[in-house]
Amino acid sequence: MAGVGHYVPERILTNADFEKMLDTTDEWIVSRTGMRERHIARDDETTSDMGLAAARMALERAGLAASEIPCVIVATVTPDYPFPATASVLAAKLGIAGAAAFDIEIACSGFIYGLTVAASLIRAGVYRRVLLVGAEKLSSITNYDDRGTAVLFGDGAGAAVLEASDEECFLSSHLGSDGSDQSLLLIPSGGTVEPLTAEGIATKRNKMVMKGREVFRFAVTKMIDATDTVLAKANLTRSDIAYVIPHQANRRIIDAAAKMLDVLIDKVIITVDRFGNTSSASIPIALSETYGAGKLRDGDVIVFVGFGGGLSWGAVAWKWSA
Ligand code: ACO
Repeated sequence: MAGVGHYVPERILTNADFEKMLDTTDEWIVSRTGMRERHIARDDETTSDMGLAAARMALERAGLAASEIPCVIVATVTPDYPFPATASVLAAKLGIAGAAAFDIEIACSGFIYGLTVAASLIRAGVYRRVLLVGAEKLSSITNYDDRGTAVLFGDGAGAAVLEASDEECFLSSHLGSDGSDQSLLLIPSGGTVEPLTAEGIATKRNKMVMKGREVFRFAVTKMIDATDTVLAKANLTRSDIAYVIPHQANRRIIDAAAKMLDVLIDKVIITVDRFGNTSSASIPIALSETYGAGKLRDGDVIVFVGFGGGLSWGAVAWKWSA
């Protein structure tokens, strides 16, 4: 990756803030999720604004001008508009209107899917560079009256500039999805199944609903399967992993998966305590922070692994090269 970057909004919502808003406690939130705080965007701050800040950081670290980017992909479930694509809006804000631009909408697995698409476009010779952004304003789809979901989500963006190189960094990918039970995790209203009405807004059917316990079980299983699958596809073993950068949905999910994979927890990047679940932004934010901390060495094998709405899941094995 030529450069990585991230952005989180200034405003912070702590567990103590939730204690004042809902029937919950800091103790419950920390022990069940590992979360202590999350960043929340201003009302006038959009998904593309956050993506722009992350993209600028990634471009600066890459030493590239936006004009050198021919393709922009944004992974998000909280687009600026139902359409046009947030990637188109972002490209225009970067001053590169005219570049190819499209969104990927597969919830928290968005960055993993996006990485697979972007790396494949480069490998196929379609583009020499791709700007991949995961950006979310989850506060806009969170029901702050529902203690089962309100405490989980935050806003933010992460970005990566991918570039063709002699060294193959994209080692393997495994993607999956199962849409047979949408009731597990969805926004019921606002699409073609249930168009949004005044009553839908009043009853918050335009906000996320989730069966947390079922998603939890699915998440641990899929993270382990997906990690082992990408390692096998790349002829690697668990001991080759330098870092696992998982989707940050719940500290308990991450700990359980790390334990079952027999990966030392200090090889697992964890940001969930400070940012909560930022869906498709969580992996690139964690990657950008890891890079910023000077932890990544050329040749390090990183496994990116995630899961989310769809239900969906996936992993990518990547050889780090800056
Ligand atoms: N404070 C206090 N009590 C709470 C809270 C809260 N914030 N939230 C729920 N509870 C209560 C419940 O009402 C329940 O009470 P009851 O036993 O009286 O009915 C009790 O705590 C236990 O609830 P569970 O849902 O079983 O709690 P669990 O330990 O499973 O934790 C959680 C819930 C944190 C949601 C967990 O299930 C989880 O993290 N699931 C996965 C979430 C996820 O990864 N989502 C995917 C990504 S999202 C996306 O794709 C956009």
